[in-house]
Amino acid sequence: MNAQLKPESMAPMSGDKYQLTNLTTGKATELPTRTGSVGPAVLDIGGLLKDHGVFTYDPGFMSTASTASAITYIDGDAGVLLYRGYPIEQLAKHSTFLEVSYLLQKGELPDAAELAAFTRSITRHTMLNEWLLRLYRGFHHNAHPMAMVATIVASLAAFYHDTTNITNDRHREIFTHRMIAKIPTIAAAAYKHALGQPFIYPRNDLDYCANMLHMFFSVPCESYEMDALHAKALDLLFILHADHEQNASTSTVRLAGSTGCNPYTAMSAGVSALWGPAHGGANEAVVDMLEKIGDVSHVQDFLARVKDKSGGVRLMGFGHRVYKNFDPRATIIREMCHKVLGKLGQSNTPLFELALRLEEIALKDDYFISRKLYPNVDFYSGIIYRALGIPREMFTVMFAIARTAGWVAHWSEMIGDPTMKIARPRQLYTGAARRDYVPVAKR
Ligand code: CMC
Repeated sequence: MNAQLKPESMAPMSGDKYQLTNLTTGKATELPTRTGSVGPAVLDIGGLLKDHGVFTYDPGFMSTASTASAITYIDGDAGVLLYRGYPIEQLAKHSTFLEVSYLLQKGELPDAAELAAFTRSITRHTMLNEWLLRLYRGFHHNAHPMAMVATIVASLAAFYHDTTNITNDRHREIFTHRMIAKIPTIAAAAYKHALGQPFIYPRNDLDYCANMLHMFFSVPCESYEMDALHAKALDLLFILHADHEQNASTSTVRLAGSTGCNPYTAMSAGVSALWGPAHGGANEAVVDMLEKIGDVSHVQDFLARVKDKSGGVRLMGFGHRVYKNFDPRATIIREMCHKVLGKLGQSNTPLFELALRLEEIALKDDYFISRKLYPNVDFYSGIIYRALGIPREMFTVMFAIARTAGWVAHWSEMIGDPTMKIARPRQLYTGAARRDYVPVAKR
């Protein structure tokens, strides 16, 4: 069957009509389009198999919306990111991570009483079951913290099975609060395990990020002096990382969750997907890359290797599947990097200077210009984490803490949708056709 789509250019706008024509039989059928609240309409191809006997082929979901969602909107060409309609720039300036978490979950900004109740609930769920804490002892001291976090998050399923009936609204809400509340404690325990230091219990008198710093950096034998700037910087980074529509880890959470599995195991799948260097692992990879480059005088050599492509070297922290102009989060983070490093007296660190120079050179280079490759959210985030004293292996864990807010919001949206189906992609089979088994002696 030959199939032809008309018109062929550009994403459909509301009112555009598309038809699928079988050029062999001449049969033409109009394809339905669906219109979102903002952005281009999408072709609804859900009926293609039933009506035409064909699948579509789209590796990497280059042209495929895997779901409808009302949580986050991105316009990659214009560099726009909205959480529930609110521009990321406004949220970064005026909101807090917990307020943003509420917004992502509920769809509206909370009033004062709602925010206080949400904050109280998150604060009350920060502790980990003591038996869960013992699981960390099974890990070698040099285990990557993302491996520990993925395991411990999945293990929550073994502790809360009596309150995770996904068809029960209240249970779903308890799950989302538990995840947002416990993920910093889980992360901090992984860090302390690697250091060989005692776990530090959460403090309910501190706010979300201050408590996290306390669990990371306190020790029982002396008091830890919290720098309010550190907590504020973390809160801003968390707002920027909280959600990003159907990115790989969120799609993983949705795909796993669509089976009806225990939601903690779906979150663990998200943590694992985030770990890859093409996704959340990029913040760690950027700092590795900068250290390997070592000096501004080596930038041109490094970029030559990137452009040569034969060694598979990429400029980490550059490029994005959706942003083809600029990543609005990167703009905010660069500014914040200047502020934080300035306040900490680290503006002139060789690593920061190298990053600035590398960005400047790459942005003028035709290789990056022609491919629309710009700094993404992770080009500078690792540098800030480093300045705050957070070790490199923990960078992606920090991303996971923030993205938990998005994961639980997407999971809840999906489970609450009465039309939800198990996610079951199809394939273009390229293996052997049917053949008969040959006994081993005759092969
Ligand atoms: N350095 C060098 N070349 C690149 C880069 C890069 N960072 N990114 C893309 N390209 C080239 C790629 O080689 C290809 O070239 P050509 O057209 O000649 O074959 C072209 O640009 C398109 O690349 P792609 O891999 O098809 O694009 P994609 O949309 O599949 O990948 C990406 C997006 C983010 C995985 C990729 O840009 C990348 O690997 N970036 C580096 C890793 C990184 O910073 N990831 C963090 C993303 S933002 C945070 C998050 O979402 O978690």
